[in-house]
Amino acid sequence: MDEIVTQKDFWDREADNFDSIYSHEKSRMSNFLDKIFRWDMYARYKYTLKNSQPISGKTFLDVGCGSGRYSLELARRNAKQVVGIDVSGNMIETCKRRSAEEGLSDRTLFVQADLLGYDLEHKVDVCIGIGLFDYVKDPLPVLKKMRESSEHRAIVSFPRAWTWRVPLRKSRLWLKGCPVYFYTKSKVDELLNQAGFKGYELAKIGQLYCVTAFPG
Ligand SMILES: C[S@@+](CC[C@H](N)C(=O)[O-])C[C@H]1O[C@@H](n2cnc3c(N)ncnc32)[C@H](O)[C@@H]1O
Repeated sequence: MDEIVTQKDFWDREADNFDSIYSHEKSRMSNFLDKIFRWDMYARYKYTLKNSQPISGKTFLDVGCGSGRYSLELARRNAKQVVGIDVSGNMIETCKRRSAEEGLSDRTLFVQADLLGYDLEHKVDVCIGIGLFDYVKDPLPVLKKMRESSEHRAIVSFPRAWTWRVPLRKSRLWLKGCPVYFYTKSKVDELLNQAGFKGYELAKIGQLYCVTAFPG
């Protein structure tokens, strides 16, 4: 099946389940396990917001925005405009509903699309792609388009290869019909160079690489 269709179907089913990692609307035991085993997701959130600064008055593109946890926080911190795109209609509906509930609709635009099929009207200051490359078989065109779309910075994450979590995550997602991809440091270096970034800073955070890259 086409990758975009697979991703759309999977994340349409998983939207609420995924968001509970942030909302903590799950059992005490699950929250405890998230704290122990997913601490790097929370650290990645802090990393991204820190490296997005200054936020006020700036424009953002959030690729694979999911339930909008990043996009909405950027809008709350007075971003001039945040465009969130995601292949999952359920994720986009959640983003739109929350944005309207919080009175952020004048500063946010949520669109069901994948980046390669989306025409951005203007470059943004910062383009983010968090928890996205885990699910993209051919990341180079996506990274290139993120570079072309951003004026100042792209902030992205990659799940690390050869960690203890890889086989567990691979089999759990395989059972649910969702392929997942992992990256060595040298693969990340190669991708960022091939995508044409002029420089980047890479942080190893738990089982993740978090990268702030400069389009030049
Ligand atoms: C793990 S979630 C991450 C959501 C959000 N960035 C976060 O970290 O909270 C991955 C999201 O990427 C979306 N996605 C996967 N492939 C995509 C693609 N090619 N274009 C746009 N979105 C995509 C999925 O639908 C899903 O909502």
